[in-house]
Amino acid sequence: MTTAESGFVELDDVSLRYGGTAGVLALENVSLKVAQGEFVAVVGPSGCGKSTLMKVMSGLWPPSRGRAIVAGHVVTRPLSIVGMAFQNASLLPWRTTLNNVMLPLEIVQPHRSAIKRRREEYESKARELLHIVGLEEFASHLPWQLSGGMQQRASLCRALVHEPALLMLDEPFGALDMFTREELWSVLQDVWMARRPTVILVTHDIREAVFLADRVFVMSARPGRIVAEQVVPLPRPRTLEDTFNPEFTALVHDLREHIGHARSQGRELP
Ligand SMILES: Nc1ncnc2c1ncn2[C@@H]1O[C@H](COP(=O)(O)OP(=O)(O)O)[C@@H](O)[C@H]1O
Ligand SMILES: [Mg+2]
Repeated sequence: MTTAESGFVELDDVSLRYGGTAGVLALENVSLKVAQGEFVAVVGPSGCGKSTLMKVMSGLWPPSRGRAIVAGHVVTRPLSIVGMAFQNASLLPWRTTLNNVMLPLEIVQPHRSAIKRRREEYESKARELLHIVGLEEFASHLPWQLSGGMQQRASLCRALVHEPALLMLDEPFGALDMFTREELWSVLQDVWMARRPTVILVTHDIREAVFLADRVFVMSARPGRIVAEQVVPLPRPRTLEDTFNPEFTALVHDLREHIGHARSQGRELP
């Protein structure tokens, strides 16, 4: 099976109910395909099942029905080819920026076995990432010495250091102010263009989705279903200036309408 035909990430009629038959139906009949190297965004109202979708794709939670396929394999356990970042940067407070970024190399194979021998090489990899996100001078700082935006940059580096084929970002900029958030859109775009991992970005910020993604999926209110899909044909690299173009604002407007429909379509089942 080639991933080009089947999608690098594929959800095949996935439903997920938390906590048995009387539990919460979080996802219902979700199917989607993401090509290798593609950047997709998933937008939807709070509580609609976006994080649940990520848990299924990364193997952290099994679906009740259907399946997830990543890189040609059905997902049955947590995947090591995934890099993740969340709303909370969750850096270890006693580790320097550099050592936080290097953490996955100490955990994920084959790096774990090699890190003692190849420490210098790994360290320069981590420093290179810090350079891309503009944090090279803060490599020896501790998390409390960094601003929220800087912590989130470090968290992005940590998600990328083991060169994951798949990057999953769950509202990574949600806790930041608008200026910092928009600055980090460009940083993330740079990293993606330099390395081209497959990216799945969950966000409730429609402008963020349009700025970053090749394609945007809209989810309904719970139980989460994919109710719309929008290609973003804007050339790259995209700049903040571009967000004022009529083409950009029209896309944002269209998606906003889809989400308006999606909200009213939510059935709020138990
Ligand atoms: N571990 C869990 N057990 C029970 N219900 C959960 C669990 N995780 C999430 N939920 C519920 O599933 C629904 C979807 O949650 P989530 O995927 O976190 O939504 P989102 O990320 O879109 O805000 C919510 O109603 C939430 O309360
Ligand atoms: Mg969430």
